[in-house]
Amino acid sequence: MLIPLNTVYNDLINKINQWDHAYYVLDNPIVPDAEYDRIFKELLSIEANHPELIISDSPSQRVGAKPIDDYTKVEHQVRMLSLANAFSLEETYAFFEKAAKDLEIDPSTLTIFSEPKLDGLAITIHYENGHLIYAATRGDGQIGEEVTHTIKTIKSIPLKLATANPPKQLDVRGEAFMPKAAFEKLNSLALENERKTFVNPRNAAAGSIRQMNPKIAAERDLQFIPYGIGAYEGDTHFTLHSEILGYLQQLGFRRNPHCYTFQGSFENFESNYKIMEAARTQLPMDIDGIVYKVDDLNLQTRLGFIARSPKWAVARKFPAQNDITQLLAVDFQVGRTGVLTPVARLTPVFVGGVTVSNATLHNMDEIERLGLCIGDDIEIQRAGDVIPKVVKVITQGIQRLPIIMPEQCPVCQAPVERLPGQAAFRCTAGLTCPAQGAERIKHYASRKFMNINNLGTKLIEVLYNNGTLKTIADIYTLSLNDIATLDGQGEKSAQNVLDSIETSKTTRLATFIGALGIHEIGEEGAKYLAKYFKTLDAITHASLEDLLQVPDIGPVMAQNVVHFFNDEKNKAIIKAIMSAGVNWPDEVEEPINQQPLLGQTWVLTGTLEQLTRSEAKELLERLGAKVAGSVSKKTSCVVAGKDAGSKLTNAQALGITVLDETEFLTRFKEDITKPSSSIS
Ligand code: IVH
Repeated sequence: MLIPLNTVYNDLINKINQWDHAYYVLDNPIVPDAEYDRIFKELLSIEANHPELIISDSPSQRVGAKPIDDYTKVEHQVRMLSLANAFSLEETYAFFEKAAKDLEIDPSTLTIFSEPKLDGLAITIHYENGHLIYAATRGDGQIGEEVTHTIKTIKSIPLKLATANPPKQLDVRGEAFMPKAAFEKLNSLALENERKTFVNPRNAAAGSIRQMNPKIAAERDLQFIPYGIGAYEGDTHFTLHSEILGYLQQLGFRRNPHCYTFQGSFENFESNYKIMEAARTQLPMDIDGIVYKVDDLNLQTRLGFIARSPKWAVARKFPAQNDITQLLAVDFQVGRTGVLTPVARLTPVFVGGVTVSNATLHNMDEIERLGLCIGDDIEIQRAGDVIPKVVKVITQGIQRLPIIMPEQCPVCQAPVERLPGQAAFRCTAGLTCPAQGAERIKHYASRKFMNINNLGTKLIEVLYNNGTLKTIADIYTLSLNDIATLDGQGEKSAQNVLDSIETSKTTRLATFIGALGIHEIGEEGAKYLAKYFKTLDAITHASLEDLLQVPDIGPVMAQNVVHFFNDEKNKAIIKAIMSAGVNWPDEVEEPINQQPLLGQTWVLTGTLEQLTRSEAKELLERLGAKVAGSVSKKTSCVVAGKDAGSKLTNAQALGITVLDETEFLTRFKEDITKPSSSIS
């Protein structure tokens, strides 16, 4: 029997929507990319031949909208409220003490629901009979601007709700934001291409959503997490706020991580704050506080509103992370790859719980963009754990000194150069500059790269300072005597060093490329190069044009690769290393059907002793698994090394299989001994 075309078409849509949900909402992909692409192409081909079939739920319609030329105003059926702020534990508790008093109950009997306060843009998404109709910003709470064209590009937002019995109408309210990693990537790309950078992820998210052109938003890796509903007409009845969030998750939305329910005692607010303060740095997105809500919807109604904010919810803000200080001086630090980075020396200032006296200035373009001079009063910002940065000049100093890039390397006095079109200035002495030499050798020998176990950082420093190790090639000419005669070393330990050098000689092409420490070519970049070119010879002879064909290798990375392999000193070093016997198996692709862990998500935790973290990750990826950073219900298995902490406890609490390192290695022994050169 011939299946009608629109049934085939609808099946394809359902399939892709389900796969998108697994990938973008559950972080747990269930199909290989190739299969996804094949089905997507099939869908596009049906749509090209039968445009009359196209429906708005089709995944092809996410980026399909034409750029808009003006914003349409949208009146919210239910007002979008704001929140009152609390800046201390006492203020937070007092807020709910007052609520309890209004309700004539004891505060400790109030059930409180706590959620991270996501730092993005408030959005409402209107669904009718399960279909996404429009999305809008909050605006003044009553009237917002329609942003359907950009909101639809966010893949974690369902175009069709995942239920057989959709509500007649539903406004999903939540925060659209940009995860930290996406923000860093966007800004480094902007710097590379000499475009304007964004001040923080919130501005980047707001700028992307208010884009006229949905294609730009689609490239920006935005996220959406709901925190409530507006207008609603449906069969499901709710008595608790937490039930609403559970319902939204069932409909296909992402869940806000780290939500808790507790009784509203002072001590409980105190311990919740501590938990959230610690969780904050681990989260993939910026949060600027915690939102506490009375969980019982009936009590919420009884409490009502004051002005524009509810009397049943409050935002406990984290301490300000921006402050003003004076720029005292700018020093130039020479990194492992020779790049000179300007570092701001500041009058010490207490920001977000720590004293800050240095901030990064990235490069000279950034200094120019900020219009910065020594002596200026500046605003600095500390976001999570990252090095503080200078946001802007607040007032110009009375005596202003310009910031000038030195003409000579501050460490070795060699001339400083700037590659055409690049923001970075670098020391031209390459491997002979002490700031680069020892650091490059440490990088090369590190666990992540050549993994020369017994050649540690202290020993490298000693051997570098006494002139034995000048470059990474000298590692292979080290003699027993070179090491055994050093303080604190003997013949046995010297032999161990030589043995681990020998063992490390059999490696992988990607590992070797990464070990060379080419500027901006880290572990991932090296993998892309190895996967694409397959041999060292092909990489060393690749032209700029060839390199630009490699997915995920940008123009600056490409230029750095060419520059590195054209350098005669580097060529000689690589030749010497290869003559010393460093080798790797050929690059071969692992057939997908031999990946026993396909579709699974594994988590690594604790200290592994027999494999490095990257080796374990690589192995799991070769076996088809995705390696995630945190444990959730979706985790398939956890490998726990020594001193495993909260990830192990979480896994145990969720009843997830936990393997120790030996069990893991035994289970996949055969796969480990196979030539491990595929990079999938
Ligand atoms: S609830 C009536 N929950 O914070 C309550 N808001 O300062 C409405 N926000 O406009 C908001 N995370 O954009 C709520 N978990 C969360 C939130 C959250 C971020 C934003 C939201 C709101 C602003 C108020």
